[in-house]
Amino acid sequence: MGCRLVVADDSRAAEFWHVLSLVYSGRPASEEDRNRTLGSEGLESWSLISETDSGQAAAVCRALRFTVMRGGLDIPTGGIAAVGTDPAHRRTGAASELMTQGLRFMKDQGLQLASLYPYRDRFYRRFGYESCGWRWQLKAPVERAPFTRSDLPVRTVGADQLAEAAGVYEAFARRWSGNHLRSAWHWRRLQGDPRLLVFVGEPAEGYVLVENKGFWQGIKVHDMAWSTPAGRDGVWSVLQGLCSNQNEIEWNEPPSLPSFAGRWEAGIEAKMANALMCRALDVPGLLRSLPAPDGSGRFSLRVRDELLPENEGPWLVEWEGGRLEVRPADRAGLELDIRSFSTAYMGSPSLSDLRQEGRLSVQDEGSYRNALRLLGAIPVTCMDFF
Ligand SMILES: CC(C)(COP(=O)(O)OP(=O)(O)OC[C@H]1O[C@@H](n2cnc3c(N)ncnc32)[C@H](O)[C@@H]1OP(=O)(O)O)[C@@H](O)C(=O)NCCC(=O)NCCS
Repeated sequence: MGCRLVVADDSRAAEFWHVLSLVYSGRPASEEDRNRTLGSEGLESWSLISETDSGQAAAVCRALRFTVMRGGLDIPTGGIAAVGTDPAHRRTGAASELMTQGLRFMKDQGLQLASLYPYRDRFYRRFGYESCGWRWQLKAPVERAPFTRSDLPVRTVGADQLAEAAGVYEAFARRWSGNHLRSAWHWRRLQGDPRLLVFVGEPAEGYVLVENKGFWQGIKVHDMAWSTPAGRDGVWSVLQGLCSNQNEIEWNEPPSLPSFAGRWEAGIEAKMANALMCRALDVPGLLRSLPAPDGSGRFSLRVRDELLPENEGPWLVEWEGGRLEVRPADRAGLELDIRSFSTAYMGSPSLSDLRQEGRLSVQDEGSYRNALRLLGAIPVTCMDFF
């Protein structure tokens, strides 16, 4: 069966919701579902359908326009979500066509990167995605949580004032690679009820959004961030107060576990959750947007990419005096496949990790040393689920 990619408008909404309902609710879509429009509450998005020769919707997904941060860099990114194939069309290649043609579609929209939370990493690897980050889901008995004391002023508000936290969140999130520059869409999704928002510092240096499950039932942290170490202590001081009638606390952390900073205790449960996969869509464009390192340097690389062969190069990357250029080269000092390039670009597994694991071939040591200066290691995480 050959499938065709269609960007659905509202005339195809009923079919789109029908497939999603079959996949995610295990039943045909209700009349109410079939009448829903395809908009994504203020976020630019596309509803994609892989349709059969006879025009039936076989597989669907959404592509959401996000801005992903890599340190100080903002990367236009397509977030793939809600992937599903009508059970009547499974194992016919419908989702594979959707994933393959979706790459070209996203690239044509000016997106340089694609990311997703996989149900099975192996399926998405076929299309060039690679696992690169996660967040820790932590649970601790209150006597083992990383509480501390702080004198920062504390302000308690309702979760509807979350957008005020944007500056603190951005300063926090830019310490890693893979986090979203949050829009109103992201903040709205965090506003579930009943949740309490607490700011520390004036102006705010930290905040925490918590759900109190009831006396002795536990505290669940839905979001927290800080822009300074004092803000981190302020947040954990507030949490200690909130836990005075609780037995446990649950929260999420980026891979480097910033809440602990020398305060880890045995007996804390940590689960690796929300493994993130990324895929470079525009190799020369991504390289060009990196800030030039100090001084001058150059390296050349080839990126094997069967689905978007224009990414292959080889590319010569050269910088001097703050200016960085990327242009076609005759030969390559480094060679890797698109999956490895994607993780090296994001920062983890990094270029040096890939070399150690035999996934980067090095013809020229000078190229390798210079590439390390541009593509440094950074832990990858995404604190938002989509
Ligand atoms: C995951 C899912 C989207 C895959 O959809 P699909 O359309 O069946 O995918 P494809 O047909 O392209 O590929 C699926 C498998 O069929 C195989 N396949 C593809 N064409 C085939 C054909 N003509 N004959 C036999 N097998 C075929 C593929 O090789 C693949 O094999 P695998 O089981 O080793 O991975 C679908 O199973 C689904 O909707 N699952 C439930 C929802 C879900 O998990 N969504 C993902 C959330 S991230």
